[in-house]
Amino acid sequence: MELLIDCDPGIDDAIAIAYLAGEQQVGRVSLTAVTTVRGNLDASTSGRNAAFVLDRLGLQHVPVLRGAADPLTPLATQVDAEAFHGPDGLGGCHDHAHPDRSESDTPLAVLRALLRAVETGHTLLATGPLTNVALALRAAPELASSPNRIVVMGGAFGSPGGNITPTAEYNFHLDGLAAAEVATSGAPITLIPLDVTERVLISHADLAGLPESPVGHLVRRLLEASIHIHQREMGISGCIMHDALAAAVSVDPTLVGCTPGYLHVVPDGDDRGRCELAPDTEGPVDVALDVDVERARSVILESLSRL
Ligand code: BDR
Ligand code: CA
Repeated sequence: MELLIDCDPGIDDAIAIAYLAGEQQVGRVSLTAVTTVRGNLDASTSGRNAAFVLDRLGLQHVPVLRGAADPLTPLATQVDAEAFHGPDGLGGCHDHAHPDRSESDTPLAVLRALLRAVETGHTLLATGPLTNVALALRAAPELASSPNRIVVMGGAFGSPGGNITPTAEYNFHLDGLAAAEVATSGAPITLIPLDVTERVLISHADLAGLPESPVGHLVRRLLEASIHIHQREMGISGCIMHDALAAAVSVDPTLVGCTPGYLHVVPDGDDRGRCELAPDTEGPVDVALDVDVERARSVILESLSRL
């Protein structure tokens, strides 16, 4: 399966990329490009971190194109997730001596890459705010009638509630308008919300199975940093696999149980990013509300342990 990931690394995006690299080693995935977006931190940090992680994973040939530097929703106040990902976006794991090869000033190239990916039957995985995807759908609305599902990490449906406001999930809140446009575009979407991601955790005990290789060492440091931050910020002992779960579902959709329907996302205002689902078997959006927690954890760990 050929796959393009649009992301905002971010520790958990980095873990999702590492998971995909492990799946690539056994031929289940071919990662063809990475596009990045402003999300956890600014757009240049997203691009730089994506390139750094790919390089360390031995995927120097995978292009990294930087996309939208700002959300479609005008933000009245600065929103970022530095508290969760650290000033470098990678929990202190970025090596500042590493040359940044991400391509800047490429929003148009990002659009082209997304359009080409959908047209050529790639799986599109989005683990950041949906700004780039919404812009691609604005440029080519006919993409929505492509049969390829777009797997999206985002949204929250009430159990346990939001993670940035009481009702909204971070990616959908950061760019509510983009999420709203993508949700109602008619594109076939598999949505991986907090309701399932927050059930899939990796703990310290799980790290024992990671290899002693240089890549295994980086993955371990990323996970350790994330576990530490989750303990400090949320008081839980384990890090949530938001983006890695979405990546795992793009490889194996049977990991989650979905409810189909029509999705509405509040585009702006205080409630920005809040989701409502009108269940309907004809609806274009499959919302994952159930997950096989143990199988999801074990496929993620198994893939990371190949690195
Ligand atoms: C999502 O928000 C970001 O902080 C993470 O990278 C993840 O994609 C979780 O709400
Ligand atoms: Ca992300």
